[in-house]
Amino acid sequence: MRTWLLLAVAVGAIGAEPGFSHKRHAEVQLACTFCHKGAATGDRAGFPGWKTCATCHVELAERVIPSGRVYRLPDFVFFSHGKHAAGKVACAACHGEMKTQATVGLFRSTKMAACVECHKENRATVACNACHELGQ
Ligand code: HEC
Ligand code: HEC
Ligand code: HEC
Ligand code: HEC
Ligand code: HEC
Repeated sequence: MRTWLLLAVAVGAIGAEPGFSHKRHAEVQLACTFCHKGAATGDRAGFPGWKTCATCHVELAERVIPSGRVYRLPDFVFFSHGKHAAGKVACAACHGEMKTQATVGLFRSTKMAACVECHKENRATVACNACHELGQ
């Protein structure tokens, strides 16, 4: 009995966690890097912890923020957000206009063909070892 009760409470807690809607937050006009701190200079954009949300949502208890991981590359691919930001490639070129998205949808494929297509259009490198570590 006791185990069931605990389980019910746990499931209830997960169900009550709010998702995050970019669209809902468009009015507060935050920079993407307010929450995705590595997006301009690091390899990974990263996700915000609750502390970042709590700067505004002081009334809410600390919680886990679920993420869909819509964009995810296999480990053998090298990708750098910072290098794209340095090349003035806008977030929206790969992720679409986030401010209109209530839930994150895949805007541009993360398959090799899609990377290479844009690299060709922009005269960026298509050398295999730019995106893959070539082990000898
Ligand atoms: C700069 C202030 C600010 C930050 C930072 C912020 N929010 Fe919000 N949040 C708002 C505002 C403003 C609203 C809209 C409130 C409304 O429409 O009533 C909102 C709405 C929400 C809602 C919708 C509430 C509802 O009634 O549907 C959720 C859930 C939420 N935020 C979660 C988060 C999470 C998770 C984070 C961190 C990743 C975060 N917020 C960061 C200001 C902020
Ligand atoms: C207030 C915090 C906040 C701001 C500002 C914010 N995001 Fe997010 N973003 C989140 C959270 C939390 C998630 C995880 C929720 C999810 O996956 O649905 C997320 C998810 C994403 C994802 C999906 C990653 C994946 O693989 O699932 C992308 C892409 C993204 N954000 C891009 C942006 C861009 C571009 C901007 C600026 C226009 C931006 N975000 C501004 C909090 C924020
Ligand atoms: C050239 C395409 C491209 C651009 C430009 C780009 N992203 Fe991404 N983004 C990706 C890819 C691909 C992934 C998956 C990376 C991985 O799994 O290693 C990703 C992952 C993410 C994630 C998930 C967390 C993470 O670090 O993997 C967030 C959040 C995100 N991007 C936000 C942004 C923001 C904010 C910007 C603009 C400052 C931006 N991205 C610009 C392609 C891009
Ligand atoms: C929207 C266009 C676009 C897409 C999509 C894109 N890239 Fe790029 N990428 C660029 C541009 C432009 C540069 C060159 C930036 C510079 O030289 O300043 C670049 C540079 C890079 C670099 C750095 C190369 C070097 O010489 O150091 C890597 C690595 C990279 N991209 C990997 C990827 C991968 C992996 C994907 C797919 C998941 C991808 N890119 C998708 C436009 C894109
Ligand atoms: C601009 C970045 C980029 C360049 C340049 C690139 N690749 Fe890839 N490659 C990727 C990405 C992203 C994936 C994984 C996504 C996918 O297609 O499933 C991948 C996947 C692969 C795979 C695994 C295929 C599979 O079906 O799983 C092989 C093998 C590969 N690449 C070889 C190469 C070779 C050889 C070159 C040079 C001719 C090259 N790549 C150039 C980005 C790149």
